[in-house]
Amino acid sequence: MTTVIKNGTIVTADLTYKADVKIDGGKIIEIGPNLSGDETLDATGCYVMPGGIDPHTHLEMPFMGTYSSDDFESGTRAALSGGTTMVVDFALPAPGQSLLEALTMWDNKSTRANCDYSFHMAVTWWSEQVFKEMETIVRDKGINTFKHFMAYKGALMVDDDEMFASFQRCAELGALPLVHAENGDVVASMSAKLLAEGNNGPEAHAYSRPAEVEGEATNRAIMIADMAGCPVYIVHTSCEQAHEAIRRARAKGMRVYGEPLIQHLTLDESEYSNPDWDHAARRVMSPPFRNKQHQDSLWAGLASGSLQVVATDHCAFTTAQKRFGVGDFTKIPNGTGGLEDRMPMLWTHGVNTGRLTMNEFVAVTSTNIAKILNIYPKKGAILVGADADIVVWDPQRSKTISSKAQQSAIDYNVFEGKEVTGLPRYTLTRGVVAIEEGAIKTREGHGEFVRREPVTAVSKALSQWKDITAPRKVTRSGIPASGV
Ligand code: URP
Ligand code: ZN
Ligand code: ZN
Ligand code: ZN
Repeated sequence: MTTVIKNGTIVTADLTYKADVKIDGGKIIEIGPNLSGDETLDATGCYVMPGGIDPHTHLEMPFMGTYSSDDFESGTRAALSGGTTMVVDFALPAPGQSLLEALTMWDNKSTRANCDYSFHMAVTWWSEQVFKEMETIVRDKGINTFKHFMAYKGALMVDDDEMFASFQRCAELGALPLVHAENGDVVASMSAKLLAEGNNGPEAHAYSRPAEVEGEATNRAIMIADMAGCPVYIVHTSCEQAHEAIRRARAKGMRVYGEPLIQHLTLDESEYSNPDWDHAARRVMSPPFRNKQHQDSLWAGLASGSLQVVATDHCAFTTAQKRFGVGDFTKIPNGTGGLEDRMPMLWTHGVNTGRLTMNEFVAVTSTNIAKILNIYPKKGAILVGADADIVVWDPQRSKTISSKAQQSAIDYNVFEGKEVTGLPRYTLTRGVVAIEEGAIKTREGHGEFVRREPVTAVSKALSQWKDITAPRKVTRSGIPASGV
């Protein structure tokens, strides 16, 4: 049974051209004019693009005394509805827990996924056991990324010696460290002070995490990675200070990547002064939303290439869960949703405003991260042999975002009331139509784990350079007797 997507314009990270796409067995088998097959999908007036890849989600994540409310079923249904065909979630060992044991827990959750997925492994503590298991995770389990939290003191946070040890291990294994860059010690201290002063509302969450907290940690992570000899990927880059550190490092030739979220690009700090406690608390996430200058910096980074990926950090909590923090903002579960809205919001505020080209849109929603994660061109490409993870994008289709019509399991949407123009006509996951004109045809359990091999071209090049420039003992012909 072959499928042909007809009459569309193919848009990839580097090309825009008219051609049909033929699919068989879940893969693209032919691209060209006048193709025919058993089933035809009409793409007249549409762009045929690689499906989105969201490299940063937390589905059914145990966090802050509860679990995030979207699981792999509702989360991947939301993803597909918005044109995203692959998610990368985080397996999070509790401090002291085996990495392999944590991975088994995440494997069990992901059996319900509607689209393909992969995992990053978190390093939340350090020991000989973690050191050893990292190799098994990379070589046997197909995971080439390790996440480090510089925040969440007393829970997930690691400090500099642990991070340096783990980064050096990543360098040996050809793996890429990811970092949540906020200075957790400063956040803890500022939070305690704010609470002691009676500042206990959701706005104080933002006061406790100024941009400097993120800028300092981003710079520190980058310098530690450089000393360890590995590339580094900074998740949820939200402010100019962090972006500046990334820009500066890249200009020096360091291999650093930055990932703004669609939330930080389009929502700002004024959300936290809303007089409605629920409204503000629903938007509590780390890092918090920033002002317009920071947003401009992020948009500029995407256009100029100093920032490479737009993600969501989808971590959805219901209003009831957010209310755990009434009277104490430090107990509001941190996280916001966005999986269904990332692509339409970025198209509307990026492509429709001229801040991004269509090709840049594909690069930052799919192709760049596929290359960074070493799954290109299986994912992130419209090429013969690639997986048929495709979105047929209708630039005329519009809607007003509303929690009433969303796939996410929670009872609100941080983008509520926003108009978007540019939505999927079809979303295909490995050749299977999951979304058709807004109708949901997802298949629970269709999603497969995507293995990611280590040693990308970048990590190979970097380790080669680090080898050449490594400190070397000076060989001397005569050594004087010690001066005793
Ligand atoms: O507030 C956030 N970002 N929640 C999810 C966990 C994380 O830090 O990424
Ligand atoms: Zn330590
Ligand atoms: Zn984070
Ligand atoms: Zn996250």
